[in-house]
Amino acid sequence: MIERTPIKSILTGKYKDKKVTVYGWVQTARSSKNVAFASITDGSVTSPLQIVFDLEKFDDISGLSTGACIRVSGNLVESPGAGQSHEISADELEIVGPVLNDYPLQKKRHSIEFLRSIPHLRARTNTFGAVFRMSHHLSLAIHRFFDENGFFYIHAPIITTSDAEGAGETFQVTSMPLDGITMKNKQVDYSGDYFKRQAFLTVSAQLEAEPLALAMGKVYTFGPIFRADPSDTRFHTAEFWMIEPEMAFFDLDDDILLIEDFIKYIARYLNDKCPDEISFFNKFYEKKLKERYRILMDSDFARITYSDALELLKKNGGNFEVEPRWGSDISTEYEKFLTDEHFGCPVFVTDYPASIKPFYMRLNDDGKTVACTDLLFPHVGEIVGGSQREERLDVLTSRAVEYGIDMTDYSWYFDLRKWGSAPHSGFGLGFERLLMYFTGMENIRDVIPFPRSKGKMI
Ligand code: 4AD
Ligand code: MG
Repeated sequence: MIERTPIKSILTGKYKDKKVTVYGWVQTARSSKNVAFASITDGSVTSPLQIVFDLEKFDDISGLSTGACIRVSGNLVESPGAGQSHEISADELEIVGPVLNDYPLQKKRHSIEFLRSIPHLRARTNTFGAVFRMSHHLSLAIHRFFDENGFFYIHAPIITTSDAEGAGETFQVTSMPLDGITMKNKQVDYSGDYFKRQAFLTVSAQLEAEPLALAMGKVYTFGPIFRADPSDTRFHTAEFWMIEPEMAFFDLDDDILLIEDFIKYIARYLNDKCPDEISFFNKFYEKKLKERYRILMDSDFARITYSDALELLKKNGGNFEVEPRWGSDISTEYEKFLTDEHFGCPVFVTDYPASIKPFYMRLNDDGKTVACTDLLFPHVGEIVGGSQREERLDVLTSRAVEYGIDMTDYSWYFDLRKWGSAPHSGFGLGFERLLMYFTGMENIRDVIPFPRSKGKMI
């Protein structure tokens, strides 16, 4: 067994004046005539640990360079220096993994863009260590919330035959060699393909979550989503994780209450579990991060219908690049106005025009809008998309016809409306966008260990 104490426990001070052994990677090392210092990290906590080497005890510390993996044993003592409460006064040093040649991470602060080009090393920096630790706690908070609220966790398929959102942003899955595709009547002949039909990576687990909700009441999925999204912004990525709860006997109001409860729970959970990470991000990345948590925990989110939001936007008309018009989507500039300027807090925009939303959303009595909501956050825009689902067979059928949907592909989805249909609702929340908000990181590629986005894959 490898004997060691994680730096997180060491920094609590509970081993004071005792001999401890730590392993870690050197972040910085410097030496003077009689003494050398190294800061090491093992990823368990945001603060590095300082090690002090009395050079009378060590003849050769040449391997003690940035990036090296070392083992150190020594006494844990109170640190006289500023910046840390405890340090190790070293007795033994082993260079476990030397740095062979130029190590790209140096003592200076590197730009976030440079770090993006070395995803295999950036988790060793304080910033990315903190991001990925928060990511872990965020995942756990999500599972805990649903477990405590009577939901069942379901694994949805990753290979599907449907484009649930109808946005045509699918990645296709095939076992056919692309240079030997056979055609039949000018169309690809899938009879020799693995599934004998066209298949895709999932763009949403919703359609598969619905049958489970209509059997088990409250379920959720939390899995990978793949979208060949044409948008190449700091909020879009081709591979992300979505949380998709689906609930029988929930209407849109129930759905919205649940979303708000869920996000407040997560804010409280992270605030409680990750104080060091939050302070770190507040200091170096987003000066108002603590305030963000406070707003999420303490104040109610705003709610406005799409039509009322349009009226508000029109009043501010001249100040937009594109004039607001009923029927157009809420673009980034409108989102910014509503969240950052007008409300100053998260906003539920509800009841969008049916024509700009997918076929499965429940048609309102006005025949023009659907019972849906997008939750818009200050700084990061749309975090959640949700709706009450159309449970009436006749309305769903005519909507599908309008959208040119091949009903044979979705026959099972229509069955649910034939046999024991029930009102139900759900939503989808983008995990990475939420993590951006909770860390203050400004680019989605900086909250994903190995990001994949348009034209970029390392
Ligand atoms: O609004 P969307 O497309 O909703 C759905 O897919 C529904 N079927 C969900 C449901 O009701 N079960 O996506 C939901 C959320 C967005 O609000 C956003 O947070 C995230 O998924 N998202 C993306 N995140 C990163 N990169 C992308 N390309 C994203 N596209 C959507
Ligand atoms: Mg959406």
